[in-house]
Amino acid sequence: MSNTERTFIMIKPDGVARGLIAEIIRRFEQRGFKLVAMKLMRAGEDLLQSHYGELADKPFFPKLVKFIGSGPVVPMVWEGKDVVKQGRAMLGQTNPLQSAPGTIRGDFGVDIGRNVVHGSDSLETAEREIALWFDKSELNDWDLPLKGAIYE
Ligand code: RTP
Ligand code: MG
Repeated sequence: MSNTERTFIMIKPDGVARGLIAEIIRRFEQRGFKLVAMKLMRAGEDLLQSHYGELADKPFFPKLVKFIGSGPVVPMVWEGKDVVKQGRAMLGQTNPLQSAPGTIRGDFGVDIGRNVVHGSDSLETAEREIALWFDKSELNDWDLPLKGAIYE
């Protein structure tokens, strides 16, 4: 299993509005994952339509794109062992009401359309989403000084 696996995590407008940016970053940092890229931005409709392309035929799609574009979001790239699957587990279920306490959605969410944060659902999706939201030059290659304390 690679220690340099990467995933795309994005704090949604509701997470930003509720002051949860630091809390969400804290959880990934404290787990031992490495932040590779991050920015605060307002996503345009084209970007969101590609990002959520697989859901284009769902009844909630227009509402979803409108909401995620309604305010600034914080897209991020996190790196570490098994980070795609671990990231999803840290987020919780899509519906916060079904998310275990201790997960981000289980601790901070109620409604499915206000579930605070997005996370890639597979390695392939992660690769696609990272390329969609970030230019290669925005991905920082740096050494985690504490890696010997995190990985054996
Ligand atoms: P995400 O992509 O945001 O990490 O969430 P997910 O994989 O857990 O869920 P996904 O199926 O990809 O859906 C994307 C987002 O659409 C909203 N949604 N609303 N029935 C509904 O009204 C409904 N279903 C999904 C959620 O905000 C979900 O995170
Ligand atoms: Mg998804």
